[in-house]
Amino acid sequence: MAKDLTLEQIHKCYATDSGKRIIIDDISLHVPKGSFVTILGSNGSGKSTLMRLITGQEEPTSGSILLDGQNIPRLGHVGLVSQELNLFPWRTALENVAFGLEMQDIPSQERLKLAKVYLEAFGLGAFLNQYPSQLSGGMRQKVAISRTLVTAPDIILMDEPFSALDFQTRTGLQCFLLQLWAKLKETIVFVTHEVEEAVFLSDFIVVISTIPAKIKKIIPVSIPRPRSRNSPDFAKVKAEVFTVYGATSCLGNQELKEALDFLQRHKAKNV
Ligand SMILES: Nc1ncnc2c1ncn2[C@@H]1O[C@H](COP(=O)(O)OP(=O)(O)O)[C@@H](O)[C@H]1O
Ligand SMILES: [Mg+2]
Repeated sequence: MAKDLTLEQIHKCYATDSGKRIIIDDISLHVPKGSFVTILGSNGSGKSTLMRLITGQEEPTSGSILLDGQNIPRLGHVGLVSQELNLFPWRTALENVAFGLEMQDIPSQERLKLAKVYLEAFGLGAFLNQYPSQLSGGMRQKVAISRTLVTAPDIILMDEPFSALDFQTRTGLQCFLLQLWAKLKETIVFVTHEVEEAVFLSDFIVVISTIPAKIKKIIPVSIPRPRSRNSPDFAKVKAEVFTVYGATSCLGNQELKEALDFLQRHKAKNV
């Protein structure tokens, strides 16, 4: 059953050789039941760390993480589709999805039956017995999503699940994910560093700063779905998000300027 998620004043520090390193600095957030929320932040800003805290793989240094307002065990209740899909290369698509159920004390035959239902619903009925190396990137991604969904988690976390895919496959899977979400009415927390992906998918976008991660702004996206990337509304929200997120400008980057000057001199010398 979908639940809502509340983060209350989350801090996370790691001890390093040079002392304490703060990764997450006071994040509070409410994700309503059945909503699609995206956390947008640049590489290394602490997004995956935050995901590990929500799943219960790690504990925050301080603060609370609540499901439906309660401090209950999260391991096994929060599903994660991670950045590295972690499919077992020696298991078929069917066996990989069934693996998601192994922790749940479900008999083997039942596990395979359930896994088959999911893979067929995902259009992979003809690929049940293929190994990950025999599947395309998009198909592997669907296997990884099925493996998480089959466990019927209360919250689904997706940590940059499409970032390694080409544009066509990625946009196809974004549409697929939205259809799935509309049907299952799950609570999804999606992580990305891409503004366009965030605007296309989300009910609201949580823009976080570079490390230590703090919330810069929460931007609601009220454009009706299905959204067109070419619409003026889309462009307007995208511009608003970019303003908060901050696009890196090449101008004023001293290192780049020096490298270009060097190349120019080098080229002139060799003409
Ligand atoms: N166990 C750890 N000990 C020390 N530093 C860590 C640990 N885990 C992550 N970090 C640091 O936290 C920072 C954020 O990492 P991460 O959460 O993976 O960022 P993102 O997912 O946004 O790219 C990185 O600089 C990383 O080195
Ligand atoms: Mg990450």
